[in-house]
Amino acid sequence: MSDVITIAVSKGRIFKETMPLLSTLGIRPVDDPETSRKLVLQTNHANIRIIIIRATDVPTYVEYGAADMGIAGKDVLMEYAGDSLYEPLDLGIAKCKMVLAGPVDSIIREGRPRVATKYVNTTRNYFADQGRQVELIKLYGSMELAPLLGLADWIVDLVDTGNTLKANGLEPLETIMDISSRLIVNKAAMKMKHGLLKPVIEQLAEAVTKQCR
Ligand code: ATP
Ligand code: PRP
Repeated sequence: MSDVITIAVSKGRIFKETMPLLSTLGIRPVDDPETSRKLVLQTNHANIRIIIIRATDVPTYVEYGAADMGIAGKDVLMEYAGDSLYEPLDLGIAKCKMVLAGPVDSIIREGRPRVATKYVNTTRNYFADQGRQVELIKLYGSMELAPLLGLADWIVDLVDTGNTLKANGLEPLETIMDISSRLIVNKAAMKMKHGLLKPVIEQLAEAVTKQCR
C-alpha cells in the first residue's frame, strides 16, 4: 500500500470550512479549487493530497478506498447505503438542520401528503418511525420550488439562516436532525495505513476541540 494519504473533500462550504482545520495541522493545498480546474490538489506535504469531488460522492470514494479519508455532511452519510466506513470525528463544520418545511399557513389537502426531497431514505425512515404515510418525490435541488408549484405539499431540506425558506414563502414545521460534517475513513486504510492516518485523526480531533473553545 502506498504511503500517500488521499483526502476527499467537496468544493464550496466544506472545502472552505475544512481548510482552517487542516491548516492548524500545517497542511495547506497548493491550489484553490475555486480558481483551479485541478481535481487533485497537491499540498505542502509530499504524501498528502486532496481530491475535489461532489459532496454526495465523498462516501463512495472513501468506501472503495479511492480516497483514504473524506469529509461529508451527516445528511449525505445518512442517505448513503454503504456500511464500511469509519466515522471517527464530528468536525463541527457546515452546521445546519434538516427540516420538514411547508408553505406558511397552508392547509394540507386530504390524502397522503406529498414530500419532495433529495433525502428520500432519511425522509422515508423519519415518517415510517412515526407511522405516518407520505408519498415521496425525489428531487436533486431547489426543493423550495416544489410546494410553490404544487408538485409537493412539503419538502425535507437543509436550513441554516432560514432565508431560503422565507424567500419562498415556506416555514420550518419539524426539525428532523442537526447536521454537521464528519471525518470518514476507509476501513482497510485504517488498518494498513494506521501509522499515517492516526496522527492526522488525532490532530484533527485536537483542532476541533480548540475551535469549540
Ligand atoms: P452536491 O454537489 O453533491 O449536490 P451540495 O450542493 O449539497 O452537494 P454543498 O451545498 O456544498 O453541496 O453542501 C455540502 C454540505 O454542507 C451538505 O451536505 C450539508 O452537510 C452542508 N450544508 C448544506 N447547506 C448548508 C447550509 N445552508 N448551511 C450550512 N451547511 C450546509
Ligand atoms: C442549501 C439548502 C437550502 C439552503 C438553506 O442550499 O439546500 O436551499 O442551503 O440555507 P439558508 O437557510 O441559510 O437559506 P445551497 O446553498 O447549498 O444551494 P444548493 O441548493 O445549490 O445545494
